[in-house]
Amino acid sequence: MEEVLSLSERVFQLWIHAPHVARNAEAGQFLVLRIDEQGERIPLTISAVKGDLVRVIFMTVGKTTGRLSMIPEGGEIRDIVGPLGRPTALQTYGTCAVIGGGVGIAGAPFIARALRGKGNRVIGILGARSAPFLILEDEMRGACDETFVATDDGTKGQKGFAADLLRAVVAREHLDAAWIIGPAIMMKVTSEVTRPLGIRTFVSLNPIMVDGTGMCGSCRVNVGGKTRFACVDGPEFDAHQVDFDGLLTRLRMYVDEEKEAMEHLHHGQCGAGR
Ligand SMILES: Cc1cc2nc3c(=O)[nH]c(=O)nc-3n(C[C@H](O)[C@H](O)[C@H](O)COP(=O)(O)OP(=O)(O)OC[C@H]3O[C@@H](n4cnc5c(N)ncnc54)[C@H](O)[C@@H]3O)c2cc1C
Ligand code: FES
Repeated sequence: MEEVLSLSERVFQLWIHAPHVARNAEAGQFLVLRIDEQGERIPLTISAVKGDLVRVIFMTVGKTTGRLSMIPEGGEIRDIVGPLGRPTALQTYGTCAVIGGGVGIAGAPFIARALRGKGNRVIGILGARSAPFLILEDEMRGACDETFVATDDGTKGQKGFAADLLRAVVAREHLDAAWIIGPAIMMKVTSEVTRPLGIRTFVSLNPIMVDGTGMCGSCRVNVGGKTRFACVDGPEFDAHQVDFDGLLTRLRMYVDEEKEAMEHLHHGQCGAGR
């Protein structure tokens, strides 16, 4: 594994030597990793591939991502399973928008490059809380025909949300398809921009996952009135069919247990995984 690089406050980039994943990975897929025998399995989007290396970009939100950020250069991860999930539905749509919010931007350039490779014109839209939290801007500019940036506080690009930029794009020109990747609430709000226009819109869902292989049911989401497992049926789904309120409720389910695990980590009871 190469050095863990800090991209912004609490967001880290990690290149992992995983030839079996790198060889088969496609845009939109993810991997599940476990730091050591006792560790939890966590899903992370495959953000890029270079030879035998795969890149993940993660925000430290809890115990496992906190430990991952502390792994030294050359350190080891116990196991990595992937690529998992269905790849992005790549077709020649025409003009596409790829919209990334927060750490969700991690997966955006891979999807944008793949769509462009299919002959689409790709408009990139990036949204972040504030300039120091904006990641992969240059990479996204290289991957897209045009890229727009918004920050909630106006410290970079337009002041406002990714949804505001998308609203401006659809007012200006016809869009054939859109991808939205970010926090569940951002995907819910942003996909409302394309709904009345009937623009085909995909979101990459991030429910709590355990095995990542369709066995445990923890990642179930309601899409079009049917129960789907995000790990095997997704993670990309038709945005306008997703029950976001159900997803948001399920994401809050383990808050107490996660808080307790973090307290243990801070008190050094869990070790640093090295
Ligand atoms: C398909 C998929 C791809 C993902 N890709 C990325 C990625 O590229 N980069 C990244 O930073 N994160 C990604 N996530 C979220 C990531 O898996 C979680 O942040 C991670 O599992 C948290 O583990 P933890 O032990 O550090 O935190 P925990 O202690 O388990 O949780 C801490 C906090 O994070 C929230 N959380 C836990 N799991 C998730 C989840 N699945 N989605 C959203 N919030 C969660 C909890 O509700 C809690 O508030 C992805 C999730 C999925 C399902
Ligand atoms: S994570 Fe277990 S079924 Fe999807």
